[in-house]
Amino acid sequence: MNQLTVNQARQPESIGQQVQLSGWIRTRRDSKAGFSFLELNDGSSLGNIQIIADGDLPNYESEIKRLSAGCSVTVEGVVQESGGKGQATEIHAASLTRHGWADPEKYPLQKKRHSFEKLREWAHLRPRTNAFGAVMRVRNRICRSIHDFFQEEGFLWVHTPIITASDCEGAGEMFRVSTIDPANPPRNKQGDIDYARDFFGRASYLTVSGQLEAEIYATALSKVYTFGPTFRAENSNTSRHLAEFWMVEPEVAFNDLEDNMALAERFLKRIVTDVLADCSEDIDFFQERIDKTTAGRLQQLATSDFQRVSYTDAIEVLEKSGQEFEHPVVWGIDLQSEHERFLTEQHYQTPVILHDYPRGIKPFYMKVNDDNDSRPGADRRTVRAMDVLAPGVGEIIGGSERESRLEVLEERMREQDLDLDEYWWYRELREFGTVPHAGFGLGLERMVQFVTGMANIRDAIPFPRTPGNADF
Ligand code: 4AD
Ligand code: MG
Repeated sequence: MNQLTVNQARQPESIGQQVQLSGWIRTRRDSKAGFSFLELNDGSSLGNIQIIADGDLPNYESEIKRLSAGCSVTVEGVVQESGGKGQATEIHAASLTRHGWADPEKYPLQKKRHSFEKLREWAHLRPRTNAFGAVMRVRNRICRSIHDFFQEEGFLWVHTPIITASDCEGAGEMFRVSTIDPANPPRNKQGDIDYARDFFGRASYLTVSGQLEAEIYATALSKVYTFGPTFRAENSNTSRHLAEFWMVEPEVAFNDLEDNMALAERFLKRIVTDVLADCSEDIDFFQERIDKTTAGRLQQLATSDFQRVSYTDAIEVLEKSGQEFEHPVVWGIDLQSEHERFLTEQHYQTPVILHDYPRGIKPFYMKVNDDNDSRPGADRRTVRAMDVLAPGVGEIIGGSERESRLEVLEERMREQDLDLDEYWWYRELREFGTVPHAGFGLGLERMVQFVTGMANIRDAIPFPRTPGNADF
């Protein structure tokens, strides 16, 4: 007796095998001739397997004829070639064990389609739907590709801390981690809460990015990446922002911005190529049910060259576009989603890498361009930043070459009112054996959105955390 997944049992190679399968019933249909068809799914694939249960099974009347959507069962039987349309195999049940009922009066996932908003309220049941099963299989495949890509390229996976004292992005969007009793906090002489007496002996937070710590390891082990949850206490209720999201961040010693752009492009192509090869059934589903442009968008990313455009040139394109943007375009602004999407979806119609952004809108760690730099868009007003913009999503990757010159780094920290002492170890990386280096961060959920076409980022992660929402 082989224990197979539904996906395995659906393959023609399994025909003739005596198997055991377990999962959840999707539908039951009774034939007048005294037997029943059951559709079984266990999450291993989008497609179900059809079980044929004969009327002479001992529990046919007492159990099988009462099975409904959501009931859990184990079936034993032989895989046979199916005469039915759209399926290679079916199982003729020799026995069926019921594990749990799901009262059709109460079980919410009945045949009728539910909105994604509604399904978010049932985050404990939504993985049993076709759409969420597909999202999770694709998300898993993306994660595997991420590790495969970096491991094959000789990167080391470094586990950077989740609790930290440093604000990498300098945006003050951190969640505090504290065990102080809010009703009775210790106070210092000025009457402020005294975090020196908190759990870690100082103010500490959930990390917004593992980059600064990844730089420590890159400047010793050369090629590293971090991959884990990151947190942002920004109050943005958009379809592209989460308060808790997963980010993968490679950091490479001796790379400059050009190397960084090339790495990002190869990396995204690899992920998409793997998903296309291994998740075709799920991608067909997204194409048909979620977004008709999905397959074309993936093919395009996998095969075409990304367009590289300096921020300065992009501003000119936007100014000359004749579009009415909600946020007016002028050199120096932080690009909004509407600008990014215009560039990648309408103007260039391909993934775009924007580079060399104004220094005033970017974090302290990005390398400042020299005045005499002849590269397009590069002058002392700009930093060696890059954002990758993808059709349908906008910014999917943000990164830069890092400032490796101690004096310039310190000048930038002063410019941004940062406390230099707080970053003493980061500055020492420039004092001792400094090297050019570069890296970037890919938001996993934005990548899942890009690949699946899911419109809302809350549906690209199992348990979304957004302002006002931390259920489950
Ligand atoms: O552009 P960001 O803020 O860059 C960094 O954090 C750098 N330290 C990365 C690095 O160079 N190592 O974030 C990187 C990516 C964005 O491009 C976006 O895909 C994603 O992280 N991201 C978010 N995803 C979901 N919800 C949010 N609130 C996000 N903020 C950023
Ligand atoms: Mg960014």
